[in-house]
Amino acid sequence: MPPLSNVQQRDIDSVFHPYTPLHKLGETGTLVVDHGKGVFITDTQGNEYIEGMSGLWCAGLGFGDEELIDAATEQLRTLPYYHLFAARGTEPAIELAEKLKELAPVPISKVFFTSSGSEANDTQVKLAWYYNNAVGRPEKKKIISRQKAYHGVTIMAASLTGLGPNHKGFDLPVDGVLHAECPHYYRNGLDGESEAEFTARMATSLSELIEREGPETIAAMIAEPVMGAGGVIVPPKGYFAAIKPILDEHDIMLIDDEVINGFCRTGNWWGAQTHGMVPTTMSVAKQLTSAYAPLGAVMVPDDIYQAFVDYTSRLGTFGHGFTYGGHPLGCALGVKAIEIYEKRDILGHVRSLAPLFERRLTALAEHQLVGEARFSGLVGGLELVADKATKRAFDPASGVGAKVSSLIEKRGAILRPLGDTIALCPPMIIKEDELNALFDRLEGALDEAEGWVAKEGLRG
Ligand SMILES: Cc1ncc(COP(=O)(O)O)c(C=O)c1O
Repeated sequence: MPPLSNVQQRDIDSVFHPYTPLHKLGETGTLVVDHGKGVFITDTQGNEYIEGMSGLWCAGLGFGDEELIDAATEQLRTLPYYHLFAARGTEPAIELAEKLKELAPVPISKVFFTSSGSEANDTQVKLAWYYNNAVGRPEKKKIISRQKAYHGVTIMAASLTGLGPNHKGFDLPVDGVLHAECPHYYRNGLDGESEAEFTARMATSLSELIEREGPETIAAMIAEPVMGAGGVIVPPKGYFAAIKPILDEHDIMLIDDEVINGFCRTGNWWGAQTHGMVPTTMSVAKQLTSAYAPLGAVMVPDDIYQAFVDYTSRLGTFGHGFTYGGHPLGCALGVKAIEIYEKRDILGHVRSLAPLFERRLTALAEHQLVGEARFSGLVGGLELVADKATKRAFDPASGVGAKVSSLIEKRGAILRPLGDTIALCPPMIIKEDELNALFDRLEGALDEAEGWVAKEGLRG
């Protein structure tokens, strides 16, 4: 490794980096990003990269969008901060709530603003508890999530998350969170089991979990339509249609976590529409503002909201809210981002590029290192395997995913290793030639990694 630059040294001397192998920082250094334009970012050394992950699945309109910058500037000049507590309001929050209601795939009555996706999902759980207390079912409180789900990192959101590193060492998950099986057909399907049979088995398994725990103790199930950070896991056909009647039968709400899926990413406004999910409530964040400011939101239907109204008439006030929830800067950017999605027809653009995205990913599924290629709209993943025929995974200690990602970086692109799945989630404004360049760099990295795997004898 070359010696660390001055800015890298200052970075590791003072910044506590999230989601980072802290013990290796001195060796690896950090990639300090200086500026961005379109789908490109440039680091402090002057190296340019195609940002194939939209940052953290969020900068859907790319970097340096002048219209968003103008909207932010104007809002900061008009009203840089105000809150929504104690019956205060701001125009941007009103406008954004109205717009979200209009776009929602199910009837929504009210929008509760947060500053992040984790806060939105934490709020969802508190609302589910509050609701069941309000309607006189104080025992109906458990929440079902799924193995490999990702719902954030606050104590409750991390508990909902079904990934080991978010639990280990943090004394999580907390009680009252159940993790159903992960509906990943490639990984969890049985020999000879069809996709339809797998879907049916997932539904039966969920039903059994509910019966075992007692349906009267379960308030809600939370699910991402396409599971993002767990490895870009696309549900098997008919999955949400199969589980919904089971949840309905037991009066269990379905919380739709659209934090990655939402705002055109999967080829519809909502992942729920792409994957046949009919939610009770929704969580949004990330592309809500194209990540130009932090903002999240929870969207609730009228019957649930009316129960809150009724309950607070007994309790006195609704005791939940965040200082920066519904920040006017975030809301103004949310309004503008949605306006841009509509007027530049970002949905049409995603749909027009999706076949190329699929084609290039599917071609890479033939690569010796790749077990499965997964995609939905403009989000995808390549699962790397030691043995294609048996689907045997690499030993996690060999760090193949991280190696591939570093080789991609060397070629001028950023993609994210989720264990041994390489995730792709490019800004939705990406052009055809830029998308092809991203795939060319990925392909080159896979070829080089193949040689490295053979040389190191990592196939076992
Ligand atoms: C599906 C999903 N939900 C929730 C979150 C948490 O959002 P945040 O990081 O804004 O707290 C994420 C973040 O990646 C996510 O992917």
